[in-house]
Amino acid sequence: MKRQRVIAVGSYPEWDNEAMTQSFALTTVARLADLADLDPSLRHETIAVAYKGGAAFGAETMDLLPALGVIANFGVGYDAIDVDAARARGIRVTNTPDVLNDDVADTALAMMLALCRRIPDGDRFVREGRWRGGDFPLNRKFSGGRAGIMGLGRIGRAIADRLVGFGMEIHYHSRSAKEVPAGWIFHATPEGLAAEVDWLVVALVGGAATERYVSAEVIACMPQDAVLVNISRGSTVDEAALIEALEAGRIGAALDVFRNEPDIDPRFLSLPNVLLQPHQGSGTVETRRAMGELQRANIRAFLTGEPLLTPVA
Ligand code: 8YV
Repeated sequence: MKRQRVIAVGSYPEWDNEAMTQSFALTTVARLADLADLDPSLRHETIAVAYKGGAAFGAETMDLLPALGVIANFGVGYDAIDVDAARARGIRVTNTPDVLNDDVADTALAMMLALCRRIPDGDRFVREGRWRGGDFPLNRKFSGGRAGIMGLGRIGRAIADRLVGFGMEIHYHSRSAKEVPAGWIFHATPEGLAAEVDWLVVALVGGAATERYVSAEVIACMPQDAVLVNISRGSTVDEAALIEALEAGRIGAALDVFRNEPDIDPRFLSLPNVLLQPHQGSGTVETRRAMGELQRANIRAFLTGEPLLTPVA
């Protein structure tokens, strides 16, 4: 059977490139913007795009590929893709849910513990020989605190389940109350959740509906010394309000995601009450392999006319 034209957009590890080359007639480009420079005949025969990136994939880009049938996103969050524009053109969209829940939840916990017990500072304290000069300052206890999950989807739930193991009181906010273990506390508003917890963990989906959902008002409701944790998308938080609260020393933050990654707001860099991570939530070999496999399985299903494994549109 003639292999069909697929364009892989973004930077993929060798194992994904090899697997895609074996299955498809593959063209690779680093960025969406590079599509316009491809030979028109190649663009016109392209059936599928394997997309990995955060740049907006909108109508104009889709129109460069008139035979496009599916955009298979590498990642659970597909907020970069204009799903309405895809739908209007009969283009299907898929993502890679579930396979990354554990890693993203693990990352959230690692960041919370690292910030709370000042693990990066402790490491520097030992390396720099400061231990001889006296003991490391005391920190705050992690176990037994109050945790609030903003968005109790699959990843939010995986985080909450882990926090139960730390004896945390679990609070959450989502569109409606969910079936949860006895004792978990539902808050109907984001402000209500923020006011009641020591840790506000943002696990919302990205996109227009959640733009600045963690607003200046929500941040203002957080108790003194509470910590905002974000492993979802930078767009979900009013970053200006967050930075203001951090600069005032009112709260702390542990952030894996930002607006305008990787060129993050430079004011974050000098704040001592923030733990910064380079959007590495799903970044393990095992999980990235599984994400790549699911992305390819969706493309193969589309090309052979079978039901898509994880369609979002
Ligand atoms: C990225 C993510 O996909 O799944 C998501 O929504 O944000 C990540 O797993 C990953 O960083 C590759 O770009």
